[in-house]
Amino acid sequence: MKRPHSAAVLLFTCILGSAAPSRSQTVIPLPAPRVEGGRPLMQVLKDRRSTRAFKPDTLPLPILSDLLWAAFGINRPERGLRTAPSAVNWQEIDVYAALPSGLFLYNPKTHGLERVLSEDIRSATGLQPFVGTAPLNLVLVADYSRMARGSAENKDPWAWADAGFISQNVYLFCASEGLGTVVRAMVDRPALSEKMGLRPDQKIILSQTVGYPVE
Ligand SMILES: Cc1cc2nc3c(=O)[nH]c(=O)nc-3n(C[C@H](O)[C@H](O)[C@H](O)COP(=O)(O)O)c2cc1C
Repeated sequence: MKRPHSAAVLLFTCILGSAAPSRSQTVIPLPAPRVEGGRPLMQVLKDRRSTRAFKPDTLPLPILSDLLWAAFGINRPERGLRTAPSAVNWQEIDVYAALPSGLFLYNPKTHGLERVLSEDIRSATGLQPFVGTAPLNLVLVADYSRMARGSAENKDPWAWADAGFISQNVYLFCASEGLGTVVRAMVDRPALSEKMGLRPDQKIILSQTVGYPVE
């Protein structure tokens, strides 16, 4: 679906793409998600698939905004509830976005991207060659400090389940928008955790590449 881009949006697209970022710009506000659009669900389910060949083209900011909201944004602001379910409503999964201009943490409350690193770490988000050139790799990280009341045996499977719902939201959004995506468990977790500067109680669950598919 083609959507109009304003000059401001194109400016932000440059910031998120390969243009050198301003060091002072640590928070990038996203435009409001467009929650009225999308293709019919049954058609989207028919088209859902994994893609492993991506063009390097940068994602326009409105697409990135809609994608992150679809992934795990707030859809009921009065209670802070989200587009994906989470066990005990822990909301323990953080969505990181590895872009050419750096690593960002999605903040669902502000619907903004907070810069974590200025370095391009896309190639560290997986073991497959396309991860280094696709425009976006999401990294789904479980923050176990938010899972305080759960039993130890439940925490790992429930974190994986919660990440799976987010991943499927991304799959459905991509199928709706003509984007390609693949969820990936093949990740060098110790190396990526170190690059991302994660604490020991933050565990990488899945990574997911998004971009325009090579036809
Ligand atoms: C938990 C999980 C981990 C996966 N890890 C990888 C991966 O590391 N690399 C990859 O290319 N695909 C990965 N996939 C994608 C599957 O290979 C893919 O879903 C499967 O082959 C079916 O294809 P489809 O998604 O097009 O239906 C993973 C899928 C799941 C659910």
